[in-house]
Formats: sequence, structure tokens, C-alpha cells
Amino acid sequence: MGKKSSISINKSKEKRQARKLEQRRIADAMSQVTSANKIEDLAALCKELLVYQTKDLQVEMLIQRVNQLDKNVLNWAIDLTERNMKKLYETCAWGWNKERKVEEMTDDSAWYIIAKEKNGTLLAFSHFRFDMDYGEPVLYCYEVQVEAAGRRRGLGQRVLCVLEKLARVTRMRFVRLTALTHNPSAYAFFKACGYSLDETSPPIEEAAHYEILSKAIDTNDSQKDEETSQTEKCPLSDGMKAVSVNTQQS
Ligand SMILES: CC(C)(COP(=O)(O)OP(=O)(O)OC[C@H]1O[C@@H](n2cnc3c(N)ncnc32)[C@H](O)[C@@H]1OP(=O)(O)O)[C@@H](O)C(=O)NCCC(=O)NCCS
Repeated sequence: MGKKSSISINKSKEKRQARKLEQRRIADAMSQVTSANKIEDLAALCKELLVYQTKDLQVEMLIQRVNQLDKNVLNWAIDLTERNMKKLYETCAWGWNKERKVEEMTDDSAWYIIAKEKNGTLLAFSHFRFDMDYGEPVLYCYEVQVEAAGRRRGLGQRVLCVLEKLARVTRMRFVRLTALTHNPSAYAFFKACGYSLDETSPPIEEAAHYEILSKAIDTNDSQKDEETSQTEKCPLSDGMKAVSVNTQQS
């Protein structure tokens, strides 16, 4: 073999360095995900958003790991998902498989936001996870489901605000989610909340029955979050229907 020129030596050095940097980036990202999953009290990181009030609605939200959820609440979430989604799943290649959905919803890594009225009526929930996705730390929103009676009152949007705040303070790069292409109301909802087609979504030519939507999270804002007043409006949404309430006073 001939002697390597100084140009090719430099090139391999650069490649090695780039590989090392990439390995470090992935290791850092994984440690961010691990740290987020270890947080004992996620609610404490976004408590100013967990009370949602309009003139005819008083909602409180709690955030729990799946294994901390009350059995009845988990069963309600599974039932609501079936009521909202079964037909939509049945009309695409996924089909509805309740066992598989329950398995997904009860996975150890599942976190839940549960929204209920002051009188205890359960109104909405989100199943989410902190995870690595295509080499990046993301908050993946598996479900956002609102009872028919609770819709178009800003609750879904508030739930997304909570997810975005959690993503920001735990330094996740995106809130990402999978949406069915034949669910136009969900698409309108996510679009209104600032979500757009993610680069990991299947190419349009594939005409897949789902797409990946996301919102990039500016993690530099997390410091600002610590400093903002507890009575600030949800910072990510235009036209919110209610203001946040200072939960420290209640
Ligand atoms: C999609 C869903 C989560 C929206 O929740 P929601 O609490 O009703 O939404 P919000 O009131 O916060 O809506 C915020 C904005 O999104 C848009 N939007 C919400 N629902 C919409 C609909 N059905 N059609 C068109 N736009 C809609 C509107 O711009 C709305 O603002 P506006 O009411 O001031 O016009 C709820 O309809 C739902 O649970 N649907 C069934 C389950 C589902 O499809 N989940 C999503 C896939 S996992």
C-alpha cells in the first residue's frame, strides 16, 4: 500500500472527529431522555398551566406515570380512545386492535396528563413519552383525546401547551406525534396549535395513511420559563380561551 498523503490523513482525522462529536451528541441526548424520565414531580415544572378556567369550565390537570394512575382513570382513558379512534383505525391499514392499544397505553414508559372538572368529571388526557426518535430527544405525544362534551373549549390546546412546556424544561428538541391523514379535525387542531409536517414523515408520494407532525422546541427558552410570572398566558398559543391561574395561591 502506498503512503497516505497529508490531505487524506487530515480527512480521516476530520471524519474521526465528526464521528466522536456525533457519538457525544447521541450520548447527551440519551442522558437528557433518561433524566426526564427520572423526574419525580413533572407537575411542579408547569404548575401555572395545570388549572384551566373559562366562564363555564373549571379544569384541573394532573401528570402521572402510568403505574401511578388510578385503575378507573386508566380504564376511562382506554375507553375514550376506543370511542374516539376505533372507527378511524378500522378505516385504514392499521385496523383496530384493542389488545395492542392497551399494551401501548400501559407501557412502563407512558406518562399521562389527566384533565378533570372540579366535580371530578374526566374530560381529556394525553399519553406521552420522553424518548429518542431518529437520534433526537423528543417528547412524543401518543394521544390527545378530549370527551365530545369538552371539545372546542381550548382544552386540547392547553394540553399541548403543557406538553410543550415539559419538552422545553426537559430539553427535548421536538414535540412529535403521529396523525391519521383521514382525521381532518385533528389535522385542523394541530395546525391551529402550530404543528407542521415533520421531516421524518413518510414522503407525500407514498400516500401513507398517517403523517408525522411536530413543533420544534426552543430549549434556550427554558431559563426564561423559570423566570416568568406564574400568571402568564400560555406562551405558545394565540387566541387562548382562558388565562393560566396562579396555582401557588390556591
Ligand atoms: C382533536 C381534539 C383533541 C381537539 O381538542 P379540543 O379541545 O376540541 O381543541 P381546542 O378547543 O383546543 O381547539 C383549538 C383550535 O384547534 C382548531 N380545531 C379544534 N377542533 C377542530 C375541528 N373539529 N375542526 C376544525 N378546527 C378545529 C380550532 O382552530 C380551535 O380553535 P377555535 O375553537 O377557537 O376555532 C378533539 O377534538 C378530540 O379529542 N378529537 C377526537 C380524538 C382525536 O382525533 N385526537 C387527536 C389524534 S390523537
